[in-house]
Amino acid sequence: MATSHLNLFLLLTFLSTAPPFIISQENNLDAPPPQLPPSEQEAVYRVLNSVNSAIPWRTVFPDDLCASPPDGVVCDYPDASVATTSVHVTELHLGYVSDYAQNPPCSPNATLDPLLFASFKHLRKLFVYKCFTGARVSLPATVPEGFGSVLEELVFIENPSLSGEIGVLIGNFTKLRRLVLIGNGFHGSIPGRIFDLVSLQEITLSRNSFTGGFNATSRLKNLKVLDFSHNLLTGNAPESIGDLTELLKLDLSYNSFSGEIPPGVGKLKKLEFLDLSYNRFGNHGVPLFLAEMPRLREVYLSGNLLGGRIPEIWKNLEGISGIGFSRMGLQGNIPASMGSSLENLWYLALDNNNLDGRIPVEFGLLESASEINLENNNLTGEAPFSDSFRVGKKVRLSGNPHLLLVKESVPPLAGEVVSSSAASGDLASVCFLTVVMVLYILIKQ
Ligand SMILES: *[C@@H]1O[C@H](CO)[C@@H](O)[C@H](O)[C@H]1NC(C)=O
Ligand SMILES: *[C@@H]1O[C@H](CO)[C@@H](O)[C@H](O)[C@H]1NC(C)=O
Ligand SMILES: *[C@@H]1O[C@H](CO)[C@@H](O)[C@H](O)[C@H]1NC(C)=O
Ligand SMILES: *[C@@H]1O[C@H](CO)[C@@H](O)[C@H](O)[C@H]1NC(C)=O
Repeated sequence: MATSHLNLFLLLTFLSTAPPFIISQENNLDAPPPQLPPSEQEAVYRVLNSVNSAIPWRTVFPDDLCASPPDGVVCDYPDASVATTSVHVTELHLGYVSDYAQNPPCSPNATLDPLLFASFKHLRKLFVYKCFTGARVSLPATVPEGFGSVLEELVFIENPSLSGEIGVLIGNFTKLRRLVLIGNGFHGSIPGRIFDLVSLQEITLSRNSFTGGFNATSRLKNLKVLDFSHNLLTGNAPESIGDLTELLKLDLSYNSFSGEIPPGVGKLKKLEFLDLSYNRFGNHGVPLFLAEMPRLREVYLSGNLLGGRIPEIWKNLEGISGIGFSRMGLQGNIPASMGSSLENLWYLALDNNNLDGRIPVEFGLLESASEINLENNNLTGEAPFSDSFRVGKKVRLSGNPHLLLVKESVPPLAGEVVSSSAASGDLASVCFLTVVMVLYILIKQ
C-alpha cells in the first residue's frame, strides 16, 4: 500500500516536471513571480478531487498549481512586460487520452464539481476524455453566466455516463472555435443558440442522444465542420444548411431525418465530405445538385430509400474518392461514366439495390479502387474485372444470380461460365480466389 502510494507520488512528480506542461518564465527578477489566486487554486483541487478522490492532490501538489501543475492543468503567464501579480488556469484536460499524453485520471466514481464552470474565468480549453464511464453523473442544473467568456474549445469525448441537456452549458461563448461533444450521454434538443456562436469552426455532436431538429444560420461564417451523426434527430433537415457556405464536412448520418434531402446542401460549394446515410430521406432520387459541388471527395447516401436511377453526373465529379450508395432502392443500369470519370475512386458501394444490366466495361479502368461492392443486385453479363485488376482490391459481386465471371487464369473451357455466387465475400487474395474457382470447376465436372 505504502509502496504504491510512493510510486504514484513519484509518477505524478515525474509527470508534473515533464514537458509539455512546463511553464517557467522569469518575469521580473525583482518582483515575486505571479501567483494563481487562492480561490482558483482551491477550485483546481476541488475539481481534481471530484474526478478522482483516491489521489491526495493537495499533498502531491502543495505549491502554487501554476508554478508546478499536475499534467492537464495549464496556466498562461502574462507577457513579461505586463505588470501583474496573478496568473490563471487557461486549460484543463481531465481523463484518459493515451498512454503517452498524461492527464489527471478519473476514477469510476468520478463526479463533476460545479466549480469547474464557476471558477475559471480565463479558461480557453476544457477537455474531458473518458472521465465519466461508471456511475451516472449529471451536468449541473445551471451554469454561471460568465462561464466561457474566453473559451475557445469545449471538448467532451467518450463520457457515456455524463448526461444532461447541453443547453445549460452553452453560454455566451463569443470566442468558441470548437464544440466537440462525442460519445456522451447528452440528450434533449440541440440548442439553437449554438448557431449564434459566430467564432465556431467545428460543431461535432456525434454519438449522443439528441432529439428534435435544428435550424442553421448564415451567422456562422467560419464553420467548416458540422457533424450530428449517430443521434436521434428527426424531421426535415433544414434548407438553411445551405447558409453554412464555408462547410467542408457535413455529417448527419445515423439519425431519422426524413423528407427530401434539402436542396440547400447543393449551395455548399466548398463541401468535400457529405454523409447523410442511414436516415429516412426518401423518394426523390439521388440529388442532381451533387454535380454542382466541385470539391466533393466523398458522398455517402446509403440506407435512404431515395430510389430512381443513378444519374449521369460523374463527369463533373472527377475528384470523388468515396461513394456509398448501398440500400437505396436504386434501379436501372450503372452509368458507364462512373467507370470512365472517377479516376480517384477508392471506395464504391452500390450493393443491395435493384440495379440491372451489365457492369460497364469502363469499371475495368477503376485502377485506384480498393473496394468495389456490387453485391445483391440483378446485374448480368460478364463482370469486367480481370484477375490482375483484382490484385489488392476487394471486389464483391455475390448475390447477382445472372452475373458471369470469366477467369483469365483458367484456360477457357468451351461454353464454361462461372456463376458469380461462388466468388462471394471478401476475397482479398487472388490465390484464394483461384483455388476456389478451380475447386468449383472440378466439382462441377
Ligand atoms: C471512489 O473510489 C475510490 C477508489 O477508486 C475510493 O477511494 C473513494 O473513496 C471513492 N469515493 C467515493 C466518493 O465513493
Ligand atoms: C457576451 O460577451 C460579450 C463579450 O465577451 C459581451 O460584450 C456581451 O455583453 C455578452 N452578452 C451577454 C448576453 O451576456
Ligand atoms: C426551424 O425553423 C422552422 C421555420 O422557421 C420552424 O418551423 C422550426 O420549428 C424550427 N426548428 C427548430 C428546431 O428550431
Ligand atoms: C433480373 O434480370 C432478369 C433479366 O436479366 C429478369 O428476367 C429478372 O426478372 C430480374 N429479376 C429481378 C428480381 O428483377
